[in-house]
Amino acid sequence: MKRLALLGASGHGKVVADAALAAGWQSVEFFDDAWPRVSVNGHWPVSGDTAALLTRVLEFDGVLVSIGNCLARWEKQQVLRAAGARLATVVHPHACVSPFARLGAGTVVMAGAVVTVDAAVGEACIINTGATVDHDCVLAEGVHIGPGAHLSGNVIVGGCSWVGIGAAVRQGTCIGAGAMVGAGAVVVKAVGDGLTVAGCPAMPLVRI
Ligand SMILES: CC(C)(COP(=O)(O)OP(=O)(O)OC[C@H]1O[C@@H](n2cnc3c(N)ncnc32)[C@H](O)[C@@H]1OP(=O)(O)O)[C@@H](O)C(=O)NCCC(=O)NCCS
Repeated sequence: MKRLALLGASGHGKVVADAALAAGWQSVEFFDDAWPRVSVNGHWPVSGDTAALLTRVLEFDGVLVSIGNCLARWEKQQVLRAAGARLATVVHPHACVSPFARLGAGTVVMAGAVVTVDAAVGEACIINTGATVDHDCVLAEGVHIGPGAHLSGNVIVGGCSWVGIGAAVRQGTCIGAGAMVGAGAVVVKAVGDGLTVAGCPAMPLVRI
């Protein structure tokens, strides 16, 4: 029996669980710091919090952090690694990942997503439903490419950045670390570290 533990009992976690089962994992058990208030996540049990998972980490054939928040996901992954967890990488069978692409530990690629030749996707990334990551893109750790978002070739994305649902990024553009690209944005020039951009063309979001 191939057993997977998921840390993060969220809606995103359910999509990861579903993808993992489709990809050949035979059982999924959730852990979440909201336990025992949260004891079930959709079709799957929540067995304990992070501390509980750390005591049982070697029981599982794979462990993966299924928290949507990019920084939290990356931080939890490092805690699990330090505890000796076998970090899993999940690719839905209906995703298309080039044999010449690289996926880091703890990364998930959802149904309908495409990762093409020589793309390098870091650890603890999410390539969400129907997203595309084209040739030679380089994604650092903890990046989330949202559902239906598209990165053209040679795009660089810094650590723990989030490209929102349906966004498009022009080829060769750099997105800094900790940045947020709003839903539906069209990114045509570099986005600085920690910036939130939105619109077409994407501009920093101004709050008054
Ligand atoms: C960009 C984003 C992070 C901003 O969130 P926020 O800081 O809470 O901003 P607000 O919702 O308060 O909106 C602030 C202003 O920006 C505008 N705005 C928000 N998101 C926008 C977007 N994606 N494109 C254009 N304008 C946007 C709002 O209309 C609002 O304008 P106003 O001040 O004229 O009324 C968020 O709207 C977004 O796009 N998140 C991505 C969601 C996503 O990808 N979900 C997928 C989950 S898997």
